[in-house]
Amino acid sequence: MLKVLCRALLAGCVAIGAACQGSRSLRDPQYQWSQYTETSTKEVVALGQRLFFDPQLSGSGRTACATCHNPDFVYGDLRPVSISDNGQPGRRHAPSLLNVGFRPYLMWDGRFASLEEQAFGPFRPEGEMGIGIEGAAARISRDPNYRLQFSRVLGQPPSPEGIVAGHVIFAPKVSALPLFTDFEFRNIGIGFDGDGFHDLGRGAVTLAEQDYGAFRTPSLRNVAITGPYMHDGSLGTLDEVIAFYDAGGRPNPNLNPFLRPLGLTDQEKDGLVAFLGSLTDLEFSPAPTR
Ligand code: HEC
Repeated sequence: MLKVLCRALLAGCVAIGAACQGSRSLRDPQYQWSQYTETSTKEVVALGQRLFFDPQLSGSGRTACATCHNPDFVYGDLRPVSISDNGQPGRRHAPSLLNVGFRPYLMWDGRFASLEEQAFGPFRPEGEMGIGIEGAAARISRDPNYRLQFSRVLGQPPSPEGIVAGHVIFAPKVSALPLFTDFEFRNIGIGFDGDGFHDLGRGAVTLAEQDYGAFRTPSLRNVAITGPYMHDGSLGTLDEVIAFYDAGGRPNPNLNPFLRPLGLTDQEKDGLVAFLGSLTDLEFSPAPTR
């Protein structure tokens, strides 16, 4: 029973792209790690999508994955940091899930290497959903319609593994276009306050001091519509982002050596913002077919 629920959740994460109707750039991500992509049929996708938007999978019954990964904001969040189901603000900004199946590491600190590993994360006791995955599975098992859908699509009643599978297959995938990132971890000084880092980022995973304050370099694809920016959502607009880089980032012991004051003119700054705007995938249709 545990297995099946996770599988449906994994389907949820990889398939949002399937909702981008008419996108000529739509294609499957080269997602090597998932054994489930083989089963990314329309029906698995539909189940994953249902789970992704279903607040029943949370402790309060009010939070869905889509609360923080909102399709109206390219499966991201307008709030700087997320508010979990228990009402507590988190430390980090919810990244857009668009093209998440292409990312070699997940989370700002890269602590998960696959969507399967990640999908259990929101269901930890202190996780975003405020309920354990077994509780979530038990809850939707009470719904005859879900039971029917799970056994038709995954051949088993709802289980944690099925939920995870559903989400992964549903992950938004849109781009055949370059993603404008190498996904490496870099320190640009965000979150350094003079005394230290509020959030060690990659350093909390590797425990190496030189990684303190380094975070995964985000994709610039669609960046004009995926603010606010940085792992803590502290920069609200692209103008603020450019001003931050123009100033050379925020000095700290691990600052990436490529960051230095640039002395850009206003015209150059505007040009950069306009260029970033040109990376928006106009084929992306934010509203999924629900
Ligand atoms: C309360 C807000 C919230 C909810 C609800 C939530 N997430 Fe997230 N999600 C986040 C935040 C914040 C991060 C980044 C966390 C980090 O880097 O430590 C994230 C990261 C992710 C990532 C990794 C993205 C990347 O670029 O590496 C995936 C995939 C994901 N969430 C899927 C889900 C799924 C599936 C659900 C529902 C089961 C869900 N999330 C529910 C806030 C949320």
